[in-house]
Amino acid sequence: MASVYQQYYTKSDEITKYMINKLSVTPHSLVLEPCAGDGVFIEALLNKEQDITIDAFELDPHEAAKLIYKYDNNKNVVIKNEDTLLHEDFINGHYDGRYDFIIANPPYGAWQDYEKREQLKHIYPNLYIKETYSTFLYLSISLLKEKGRLVFITPDTYLNLHMHTFLRKYILQHTKVEEISIFPASFFPGVNFGYSKLSIITLVKTSNNIEIFNNKIRIISNFKESMNLLNQDNTKSTIIDQKEILNNTSYAFIYSDDNYLNNLLKHSSVYIGDIANCVTGIYTGDDKKYIKVSNHTIKNSKNYEIINTAEIAKTTKPDLNGFDANLFIPMIKGGNTRFLKKDRWFINWSRGAVAFYKTNKKSRFQNSQYYFKQGIAVPMVSSNTVTASLINYRIFDQSIVGVFSKNNDYILFLLGFFNTSICTKLLRLINPSANNSANYIKKLPIIIPDTNTILHINGLVETILAAKNLDDDTSYIENELNDIFNVLYYENREKNIIKNKQPELFEL
Ligand SMILES: C[S@@+](CC[C@H](N)C(=O)[O-])C[C@H]1O[C@@H](n2cnc3c(N)ncnc32)[C@H](O)[C@@H]1O
Repeated sequence: MASVYQQYYTKSDEITKYMINKLSVTPHSLVLEPCAGDGVFIEALLNKEQDITIDAFELDPHEAAKLIYKYDNNKNVVIKNEDTLLHEDFINGHYDGRYDFIIANPPYGAWQDYEKREQLKHIYPNLYIKETYSTFLYLSISLLKEKGRLVFITPDTYLNLHMHTFLRKYILQHTKVEEISIFPASFFPGVNFGYSKLSIITLVKTSNNIEIFNNKIRIISNFKESMNLLNQDNTKSTIIDQKEILNNTSYAFIYSDDNYLNNLLKHSSVYIGDIANCVTGIYTGDDKKYIKVSNHTIKNSKNYEIINTAEIAKTTKPDLNGFDANLFIPMIKGGNTRFLKKDRWFINWSRGAVAFYKTNKKSRFQNSQYYFKQGIAVPMVSSNTVTASLINYRIFDQSIVGVFSKNNDYILFLLGFFNTSICTKLLRLINPSANNSANYIKKLPIIIPDTNTILHINGLVETILAAKNLDDDTSYIENELNDIFNVLYYENREKNIIKNKQPELFEL
């Protein structure tokens, strides 16, 4: 049942200690523990201060029974075996502003049956309820008293991901965020998410807009071990104004020591979204059936059939309705390859198959006006650095964001940019996770240099493409490209910020 309850318990003394210190409970106060598990926070709270009353909720009847038994003699600890998110007094607003302190390690991504999902959507209409922790955070803030304190440990995805925009706005408008510590999920014994880090947020509820306006948030990162939560050794502390974050697009927590890059992200005169359309590609609805692969050395290909060359269509310009014959065409899928992806994957493009993609409920025949056009393929997920390759008039699937320049002169230039370290740096500032969805790519600031520089970059990219085609080494040219883009981004700093428009761009 782990996926329903998501029982990852706080088995790290350093994390517990840090969270209890941050909460700073005071005598005679009322504390809420909305997802108690085996009661690690209840125990630590009582060790710190006995003169408090704790309301604790736990959904799992076995864990709740153990806690009820354990605190049978303590009238100040009230255990409820209930679903916190559906508790009557919480959702009807009667308990809004009730608690002095709230501490939690809520379930992350707990599986909800469809009926409960519908119920939660109805109660919390603006939240991304699939990710349970965010609903706990939202509800808990509403239950906090004015000046009440809250400390939560959660994944750090709510700081930047698009689907948590509403939650971020709610936090920023109703609380003073004191501190956010961001550290590897591996500090949490037994838990390891590939997709995000963990964070501990400490905040104070307030309805005073002036306090919010003047509030400074401390973001601590660069932790090497969990002990650093307590001793702060070699950690990095960045102070940001809460009002700055409220001004950011979708209230994203963009922070970096590099003020110039921060400024550029917010005030660039041109963004990728201004000069290119960024879209995701097709999903067949049944890839194992409709997709084949050239050979099984290709990553993640072992469940796919090998294509026979006779099955591959000769034409380079397929019709959007498919062929009369049962033929396949090359398709670009995810996977980190720079500049040039050879034909490795093939999609069935017969009339019957295309009709299936267009009508089947699970399939996505999306953005088809961009199929078979020239553009740039950026994989949705990239492990370390962002990579990009030329689409070369092929179809691309939903693991790719296709970037289609509105001006053909910029295609190679943009292909170069997406393969540079500055591009990765900017994209990770917009969204620190490995996800490169179209929404984030559109927000990348792009600097368009003079025509000669563009021609020079285009020439280098063409050389790389030709060399890659012959499987030659291109690292020295790639390094040169990287340096050119670094100069473009770091020199003429003032010119890159909004006051000076880049006029040639607008003559498209
Ligand atoms: C991540 S664990 C944390 C437990 C404990 N606070 C700790 O830090 O070790 C989350 C707990 O919340 C419980 N839980 C999950 N969904 C819940 C819900 N909707 N209402 C109340 N408790 C819930 C789970 O059974 C689990 O014990």
